[in-house]
Amino acid sequence: MKVTVVGSGYVGLVTGACLAEMGNHVLCMDLDERKIQVLREGGLPIHEPGLLEVVQRNVAAKRLEFTTDVDAAVRHGTLQFIAVGTPPDEDGSADLSHVVAAARAIGERMTDYKVIVDKSTVPVGTADRVREAVAQALAARGMELEFAVVSNPEFLKEGAAVEDFMRPDRIIVGGDDERALLLMRALYAPFVRSRDRLLVMDVRSAEFTKYAANAMLATRISFMNELALLAEKVGADIERVRLGMGSDPRIGYSFLYAGAGYGGSCFPKDVKALLHAAAVQGQALRVLDAVERANDQQKLVLVDKITARFGADLAGRVFALWGLAFKPGTDDMREAPSRVLVQQLLARGARVVAYDPVAMDEARRVFGDNPGIRYADSAAAALQDADALVLITEWREFKSPDFDALRTQLRQPVVFDGRNLFEPALMRAMGLEYHGIGRSAAAQPAGEGAAS
Ligand SMILES: NC(=O)c1ccc[n+]([C@@H]2O[C@H](COP(=O)([O-])OP(=O)(O)OC[C@H]3O[C@@H](n4cnc5c(N)ncnc54)[C@H](O)[C@@H]3O)[C@@H](O)[C@H]2O)c1
Repeated sequence: MKVTVVGSGYVGLVTGACLAEMGNHVLCMDLDERKIQVLREGGLPIHEPGLLEVVQRNVAAKRLEFTTDVDAAVRHGTLQFIAVGTPPDEDGSADLSHVVAAARAIGERMTDYKVIVDKSTVPVGTADRVREAVAQALAARGMELEFAVVSNPEFLKEGAAVEDFMRPDRIIVGGDDERALLLMRALYAPFVRSRDRLLVMDVRSAEFTKYAANAMLATRISFMNELALLAEKVGADIERVRLGMGSDPRIGYSFLYAGAGYGGSCFPKDVKALLHAAAVQGQALRVLDAVERANDQQKLVLVDKITARFGADLAGRVFALWGLAFKPGTDDMREAPSRVLVQQLLARGARVVAYDPVAMDEARRVFGDNPGIRYADSAAAALQDADALVLITEWREFKSPDFDALRTQLRQPVVFDGRNLFEPALMRAMGLEYHGIGRSAAAQPAGEGAAS
């Protein structure tokens, strides 16, 4: 099939590359000339494990191409995926200007039947706006052409995006145009060979499902984060509690980790957008409202622990920071808890020496030339003469550090673990002062071995 993907970011590029991998002819379009230039030169504008290989293989096979030419993009695909950004507007609603602009561009140029696929995360009712934008552009040209709009929200996770796209838990397609649905089924058939995971529903339910799923995941995280705060006060260990809870199949283990708050390009903005959509309808979403407030608070949890230990004035202090990306496997720092942490530490007079395996270029862009932050070449190098280590992204390479180096290189052997990566008892045995999230019982000798 001939497929155009409008927007070649995390979602568009993965979608385009994976569809090409199954034999489709894909043209990825983006207005960002730099991105397209990098792709044309054989590179990737983002960090995503396994993606470069898929891109290179399909470019070599001439099934995947990149362009900034809108005319060529509209001409190419019967299926026109819209995978542009939908960032939060000032009032928290999803900014649909890029989606509508992409739809209009299609309406202004199309000469035959097109299926316009909303892959961006968009609020309920957006398919109608897209349909309207295309219809208006066609009317302005005095043309009547058939087209369909379907919703196909994306569920990939950054850091595992290729795997998620190639082996999806489910594919959701919302729409009622039989011809369009047939094309969507055919397009996705190779991805659901072992059992049909394609759920067809009405377009509004499809749009809603994406927000509902992200809101649920954010809820689990905030719920556990608040329980972790209480666990510290009552002398329980949230990690033991997690294991005890997760073993119930009605609950499950996923997304029950307490930490330094959720970030990224999706949860914060999608929670905001759903709250905004509810407010417009006069419908209270009290649970979700609390989820967001709890997360804003949680992003400060490490700062609170640091100031409780070192005092509110951190002038002259240096903190080694392990991790900058909002989660491992990506260079994405959108809404990353590290941003709040760094900003708070610098505001209190501290300096930060940061290390992240892939997000340091992005961090340089985010923090600019702020003299308060320096970047180390390795996790070990960041430790040198720092007052304490603060870990905020659970990269694999941080999981088994050189504990002796931690003890000897830091000015004080203090570790703030924002992702509960380490066992408190082990850290203590290594001579390190350990501050996790919700782990007070395990910090007492009496709590050791409780889960074994
Ligand atoms: N990143 C994720 O993990 C993820 C997962 C699921 C869904 N989503 C959703 O997918 C959408 C895209 O997210 P992303 O992370 O890929 O964003 P992104 O910012 O990485 O990429 C969006 C791209 O669209 C381009 N663009 C904007 N307007 C355009 C236009 N009119 N024509 C062509 N290109 C245009 C931008 O230049 C940019 O390269 C969002 O709605 C997001 O919520 C993201």
